Amino acid sequence: MKAFSAVLEERLSRRGFVAMSAAAGVAASLPAVSLADARRRPATTVNLQGIAPSRDDALLVSPELRSRTLLTWGDPLWPDDRGLSAQDIRTLDWLDDRAGARQERRFGTNNDAIVFFPDRGDATHGLLCVNHEYVTAELNFAGLAPTAKERAAGRAKWIAAHPQAVPWMQAAHGVSVVRIGRERDGWQVLRGAPQTRRITATTPMEISGPARGHSLLRTNADPTGTRVLGTFANCSAGRTPWGTYLTSEENVDDYFGKTRSWAGVTEDFELLGVFNRFPTGEDSLYGWEHVDRRFDVRAEPREQLRFGWIVEIDPQDPTSTPRKRTALGRFSHESATTIVAPDGRVVVYMGDDDKYEYAYKFVTRDRFDAKNPAANRDLLDHGTLYVARFDATGKGEWLPLVHDERGPLNSKAGFKDQAEVVIKCRAAADLLGATPMDRIEDFEPNPVTGRVYMACTKNPDRERQSRRDYYMGREIDLGVDAANPRIGNDYGHIIELIERADDATSLKFRWNIFLLAGDPRNPESRFLTRYADIVPGKLEHGDTYYGGYGDRSAVSPLACPDNVGFDPSGRLWIVSDSDLKLTGNDGCYVVPTHGAERGRLKQIVSAPIGAEVTGCEFTPDGRALFLGLQHPGEGGTVDNPISHWPDGNGLPARAALVVIERQDGQPL
Ligand code: FEO
Ligand code: CA
Ligand code: CA
Repeated sequence: MKAFSAVLEERLSRRGFVAMSAAAGVAASLPAVSLADARRRPATTVNLQGIAPSRDDALLVSPELRSRTLLTWGDPLWPDDRGLSAQDIRTLDWLDDRAGARQERRFGTNNDAIVFFPDRGDATHGLLCVNHEYVTAELNFAGLAPTAKERAAGRAKWIAAHPQAVPWMQAAHGVSVVRIGRERDGWQVLRGAPQTRRITATTPMEISGPARGHSLLRTNADPTGTRVLGTFANCSAGRTPWGTYLTSEENVDDYFGKTRSWAGVTEDFELLGVFNRFPTGEDSLYGWEHVDRRFDVRAEPREQLRFGWIVEIDPQDPTSTPRKRTALGRFSHESATTIVAPDGRVVVYMGDDDKYEYAYKFVTRDRFDAKNPAANRDLLDHGTLYVARFDATGKGEWLPLVHDERGPLNSKAGFKDQAEVVIKCRAAADLLGATPMDRIEDFEPNPVTGRVYMACTKNPDRERQSRRDYYMGREIDLGVDAANPRIGNDYGHIIELIERADDATSLKFRWNIFLLAGDPRNPESRFLTRYADIVPGKLEHGDTYYGGYGDRSAVSPLACPDNVGFDPSGRLWIVSDSDLKLTGNDGCYVVPTHGAERGRLKQIVSAPIGAEVTGCEFTPDGRALFLGLQHPGEGGTVDNPISHWPDGNGLPARAALVVIERQDGQPL
């Protein structure tokens, strides 16, 4: 059978609709950026012993540290509920008609991003917002084989026999808002605090910004195009200066099914064109389309366009309606990290985490007013969205994604108004010549220096030679370039970006490679210490570079930098998500960005078997680090677990959130 992309291509090209885009060419290396000109100096050392990579089924930490599990999937968020335990999930008895309703009052599955909102003047109490990205069905449902091995027909049959699993899965997604505090015997969840809230795949939300009410967002259930149910695929996140939570909708294309069936018969060629750069499949990953018609593209083809946005949530008010901020564009969103620019406007850094997709930022039209919270409420509805082009000279430019009949984003090019620019954001970015990147997971300014760090997790498809080909709905160069210099990029890299005049609203920037991840101790690969040696096309798959640091025996191996964060003193923390498990399980790492130890990366945490590490959030006093352990036991099942973390005793693994502190109580 033909893939959806083939059906789509064929039907669109018949209409002469397939757009092509330019791509940046392969270029020479550039000199390392001088480090003398940062605004303030961040901490330049790490006062923790690194740990060796491990394959143990345990959460291991540096000897100076201790960890505590705060929240596990199934934990009750209100004191009147008993929750769901690891013992409970050994059978399917819990999965009855009320399982969804019960899950709406419990911590969700596969926790991802974490943002801490401290009480005013108190770093030890506050609210934690946590994303629940997705479900790994075989780690939740007894009797199920790993999803990858399961045929779509088998999944459909299983869903037909267990229709109550769909409302349960929908309730296990979204966001948890919980109150926590450091009490006499350590960090606790303060269950039932008034702000406690679960936001799920069915929570009513408003659509705001330029796409609000647009015909492409109208469905049978919502003919106004202004109200939508829920959020899912919530991966990385951020906070605003006015105290709201920004959650990203990432792999939303995994949730919709029957697309090829619809594409083969529809006469709506405009909509086919919109799907071109962000297509959904014939079978979803989760099977919701079998019992919930809004996930069946034949019934509600536009529903999917109401996902793939940044959602703003006020964690202090559990009755508030979350808002999808369409001005920030629609793509596989990762990260929404904000910084207040010198003139008071707010900048949001965002990535699109698909292979060969782009880096974005949004600059508000209006200024942040710390004294007038009401004035900040809808700041994210007005402003300019930009996409990045990284030039081989080490310079770069932010290109405005603005509808303009005299510019490239006009009606003839398929953009009748700004709503169409943000809905078809990837296609608009293609036309501007943005640089296709190696999967951007996180994109975050250092609070001390203002420099911005972008983690490109990996891109095994990156080719050695320049070669143009059709990829995800447009033609691009699949070869290495200056900003993505390594072939078969299995281990990922981190880019350091310096906005002109250290002003986040600048349209020009300089950039350099901060880190090429991998195993620096592998004698068969080169450990580069001179920036001039980072030459696209001349780098082998295993070659590494750690910010110019010179001693390969004094740094930890790292595969697939994923989320990044900063402690209050401005050191970069990195968590990893690698399928290959280069030398051990995934972990958490810390590295100074300045000084003699720039690039001296140390592993601080090793995750249990099968888990990726998420989060990387500090309290403002730097004394507590919150991390997520997502999908421990991945590769096994409930019946044949390969991890028993955190419950032990032979029980199946469950995703959880931990807090890490120094034993002596000092900042990490
Ligand atoms: Fe949810 Fe980009 O990983
Ligand atoms: Ca991740
Ligand atoms: Ca982050």
